[in-house]
Order: sequence, then C-alpha cells, then structure tokens
Amino acid sequence: MKIKSSEITPEWLYLSRRKFIKGVAAATTGALIASGCAAPTGPGPATPEPAAARASDTPIVPPAAESAATATPQAVPPADAAPTAGASTDELGDKLTSHEAITTYNNYYEFTMNKEAVAFVAKDFRTRPWTVAVGGLVHKPKTFDIEELLRKYPQEERIYRLRCVEAWSMVIPWLGFPLGSLLREVEPMSQARYVRFETVLDPREMGGQRDSWVDWPYVEGLRLDEAMHDLTILATGLYGKLLLPQNGAPLRLVAPWKYGFKSIKGIVKIDLVAEQPTSLWMATAPEEYGFYANVNPAVAHPRWSQATERRIGELSRRKTLPFNGYAGQVAGLYAGLDLRQDY
Ligand code: MTE
Repeated sequence: MKIKSSEITPEWLYLSRRKFIKGVAAATTGALIASGCAAPTGPGPATPEPAAARASDTPIVPPAAESAATATPQAVPPADAAPTAGASTDELGDKLTSHEAITTYNNYYEFTMNKEAVAFVAKDFRTRPWTVAVGGLVHKPKTFDIEELLRKYPQEERIYRLRCVEAWSMVIPWLGFPLGSLLREVEPMSQARYVRFETVLDPREMGGQRDSWVDWPYVEGLRLDEAMHDLTILATGLYGKLLLPQNGAPLRLVAPWKYGFKSIKGIVKIDLVAEQPTSLWMATAPEEYGFYANVNPAVAHPRWSQATERRIGELSRRKTLPFNGYAGQVAGLYAGLDLRQDY
C-alpha cells in the first residue's frame, strides 16, 4: 500500500511520542501521529558521515550598521505583491529557493503538522493589528506596534540559508532588521544574559494549539550576544514583500547558523532574562534538543545523521556546513564551549 507523504510522522517529532502519549488520550494520539506533517524528503536513512565539511571561506558581508541606521525606511509591498529579490544567489553561489517552495512547504505546528497544508490552513490568520511587547530586564520596556517597527527600522534584504533539523534546507531572501537594533532601544540591564521569545497564543485561530501534546505557546531563546549578532534579524518579509502567515507573519526570528526551529514565528513577546530560557523543544524532548541548536554536521541527531541535507528543489543531497556556512562570523561566539555537549 502506498503511504501518503502526509501520513508520515516527521522523524524529529516522533521522538515526542512519549509526550504525545502522556498529554493526549490514546485514541486521539493515534490520529495525531497519523496526521503528522509530511516528511516526504525529510531525514532519510542515515547517510555515512562525510569527511568533515569545511566552513565557507567566503565570508558574507553583512550590511554595515551605520548604513542601516541612516537609510530611509521604505514601505514594504503587501504579501500579495510580485516577488522580487536583489540577487539570485547567496554569497556561496547557491540559488535562491523559489518563492513558491518557500511559501508552500512550512513548519508551523500551531496550525498543522502537515507542511504542505500550512499555507492553506493559515491563510486567513489575522496579522493586523499586532503588537510585540519587549520587556524583562530592560530600562525602557515598550510595546511596539508592527507598523511602527516597519516604519522605524529600514527593512534590509538578507539572503540566508535555512537548515531545518529535519535535514532539508532552503535559501531565502528575507526582509527584516537586526534584532540588536530593537534590543538597544529598550536598553538591556547588566543582569540580562539571554533573550526569550514567545509566539502568539491564540487557540481559537490556531487549531494546532488546541492539541495539548506540547505546552503552548512556542518559546525560543538566544544568548544575548547571539541576539545582538548582526546576522540575527527579525524578519518581516521575503522576496521583497511582507511575510505571509505560513512564514511567521508579521514578525519572526531568523538566526541562520542555527537549526530552523530556533527561528520562532508570530512573535508577540520578547523578554531579556538572566537565566537560560527553556524552549518548547527543550521542554518537549530534552534528550534530543538543546538550547544552542547550532547547525553541526559532526553531531548527529540521536536518530539520524546531520552530515547532509536535501536542498529543496534539488535532487541530490549536499554536505551540511558547520554553522550552516556562517562559521566565519559566529564560531567565535562559542569559544570554550564543547558543542558536542552544548548542542
Ligand atoms: N515557529 C513557531 N511558532 N511554530 C513552529 O512550528 N517551526 C520551526 C520554525 N519556527 C515553528 C516555528 C521550524 S521546525 C522551522 S524549520 C522553521 O520555522 C520553518 O520556517 P518556514 O516554514 O518559514 O520555512
């Protein structure tokens, strides 16, 4: 019998089966697992470890902070405008993934676990009005309206690779602004060491949140220096226009050297905190997901290799690069850490 791709539970969620069973009545558990998100090309059988992939020695040059600060903010075209991008490749020469693929193959469990259905299920999700409360250990806590963020911060294009922990990847021309610009504005206190992010909790609009197999809302975290790094952005758009709901509209995090699950969508709350935040996946499956989640081909997921990945739109697999190819910019953040332990 041919099994539909939408009936395959993604490998990385299968781990939470014990959680499923704990949190959901046995009957519905079966249904949930059966309706798990499509992983037609997810992590296949473990592939042999390749010789250590080397980081790119072509550093990407992030836009200078000054030029960003002095640029004139431009209105971003609506999500249904024609897709545009400033370049057709990333700094490694990798082709941009198509707009179609980026917007129709998604992980957003608040809506559904079926990657190919997210766009449809989320299409009427209201992303206006929308506010983001930035607080915690800061001198100037403030709730920002999304329109204010769009006006205030020039929206820059950043072409980044996105590497999902499930071992597929894309190249995405994001629009957004450095998270550091927002954090500087609220003036972190000296005790602030981490940043905690929270997705909107709206079970009436987000059907997946009515299932209790994880503790909603989705939470993620970064160390403060990771959050202040110039590569880290809050994305508001892609392909030159505003984000669609399935990609995390109106505001999502992008930290391109980390597995995609760190890039939390639909953010409504950002807190500066003293202690390391516990992310949704750390709480759900601590034996499989750590805080850092830096892309690392040398450290296999407990159930599959991370040495290679499938670039969406390509047939053969390619080697995964340490830190997703951004080692030159970020490896220094982890000096003194054993990334096999601190995964
Ligand atoms: N954020 C929230 N709130 N909910 C999610 O389910 N999925 C994560 C991440 N952010 C997720 C999320 C995962 S696993 C990945 S790989 C990326 O979003 C996918 O982003 P994309 O759908 O825009 O490609």
